[in-house]
Amino acid sequence: MRAGVLIGATILSCAFATSVYAEGNAAAGAIFFKGRCATCHTAAKGAGNKIGPNLFGVFGRRAAAVPDYNYSAAMKASGIVWTMDRLKPYLTNPRGVLPGTKMTFAGIRKDEDNANTIAYLATLK
Ligand code: HEC
Repeated sequence: MRAGVLIGATILSCAFATSVYAEGNAAAGAIFFKGRCATCHTAAKGAGNKIGPNLFGVFGRRAAAVPDYNYSAAMKASGIVWTMDRLKPYLTNPRGVLPGTKMTFAGIRKDEDNANTIAYLATLK
């Protein structure tokens, strides 16, 4: 019985997570990125680093992979691969999720903006 409830809850939460990201709107994410991320990040292939690393191809890649960017020790040691389930908490609260990160960004408050931004990052390939 308990296992049944647990499995049910897991399926429900997975379905929810999938639907949130399935609804992520890359075009809206691009606008959000321009306003909130582009001060520190470029997105085009081969564009240089700014305060933060170039983010082309970041989706699905291991953290700290841009060769000519000087990442924090925390990021280098994180072992993160930037899939949805790692991007969402990092973008929501960078320094809460990864103490010692150099990304001094407060975090995205709204789930919708977060999902849109991730949908946009996934197009950068
Ligand atoms: C104030 C500057 C700043 C802002 C604004 C900012 N970032 Fe960052 N970001 C950084 C820095 C600096 C790093 C490197 C972190 C480290 O080495 O600990 C980083 C790292 C990252 C990484 C990991 C890159 C990798 O190669 O592992 C991702 C993904 C990322 N940022 C996404 C975003 C997104 C999306 C936004 C907008 C919602 C954003 N950042 C806003 C400065 C910023």
